[in-house]
Amino acid sequence: MKKSVFQGKSFLAEKDYTKAELQYLIDFSEHLKNLKKNGIPHHYLEGKNIALLFEKASTRTRSAFTTAAIDLGAHPEYLGKDDIQLGKKESVEDTAKVLGSMFDGIEFRGFSQQAVEQLAEFSGVPVWNGLTDEWHPTQMIADFLTVQENFGHVEGINFAYAGDGRNNVANSLLVTGAILGVNMRIVSPKSLFPAEEIVKSAQGYAKKSGAQLIITDDVSEGVKGADVLYTDVWVSMGEEDKFEERIKLLKPYQINMDMVKKANNDDLIILHCLPAFHDTETVYGKEMSTRFGVSEMEITDEVFRSKYARQFDQAENRMHSIKAIMAATLGNLFIPKV
Ligand code: CP
Ligand code: NVA
Repeated sequence: MKKSVFQGKSFLAEKDYTKAELQYLIDFSEHLKNLKKNGIPHHYLEGKNIALLFEKASTRTRSAFTTAAIDLGAHPEYLGKDDIQLGKKESVEDTAKVLGSMFDGIEFRGFSQQAVEQLAEFSGVPVWNGLTDEWHPTQMIADFLTVQENFGHVEGINFAYAGDGRNNVANSLLVTGAILGVNMRIVSPKSLFPAEEIVKSAQGYAKKSGAQLIITDDVSEGVKGADVLYTDVWVSMGEEDKFEERIKLLKPYQINMDMVKKANNDDLIILHCLPAFHDTETVYGKEMSTRFGVSEMEITDEVFRSKYARQFDQAENRMHSIKAIMAATLGNLFIPKV
């Protein structure tokens, strides 16, 4: 059987995949979700060993990779930052060579995009980026699957991301949306606009797909007529010293009922990659309330619990989409030309 375009390929950043390939992964995730819901086995990775490397904390990504691997018949092995030598006592190159000789696929979540790229270069097995400071590509397949489930398609959807416009999730949404033909709007203060090179590359993809891109600090302009409102934490992992400045800077970009009204769309859905600061039920939440008098940050509790909210469907979809990514790149599947 002829190898598919996916077989043996890593998933490091969205730009490495075409529109048709990303759309295939979204559709395949939907199919695998159906199989799972109907109790139909899908052991495409029987007997494979999967390494899960985590330098940063994770609930969804770790759980999704673990359960997806098991559903596919593979064995996942969690290797946390204090369990292995990666980068501390052993170079990424050497670690990659060792892991590649024992594991059939590697997930990596950490700080540096270069590290995940090196793992792919030197391990010789598919490597999946479970989030770096720059990109969060596996999240994208789940996010656009959730959009597709709600609207029947992703192309032409008006998608506004409000908040920190230059973090990993914002970067990934802008580029993925532009490739897929989604009208992406990044709504953030100017100082948190995405880097120029990312905007330029997104504009290049948009030219091809027909997506209309807006990068603006004007909330009314950015969210008007949006089908999807999306936000992420104001302070990403590794930037915990920035709470004070971000709270001040990003308050006008909070998803609250005023912003929902400004979107002015009865079919609106709200997404958040999670975890979210929508109340004071967390250690950070309590600390921020004591230090800065805020009980919610990027999204209000009212909106988080509203009829528009889809963040928990989106979280579940991490599992189905990660399954699709692993099966397509590591399994011996028949995939017609995409
Ligand atoms: N959305 C996301 O990546 O969640 P975790 O950090 O819990 O993996
Ligand atoms: N931007 C966030 C995403 C968490 C899933 C972070 O990097 O912490």
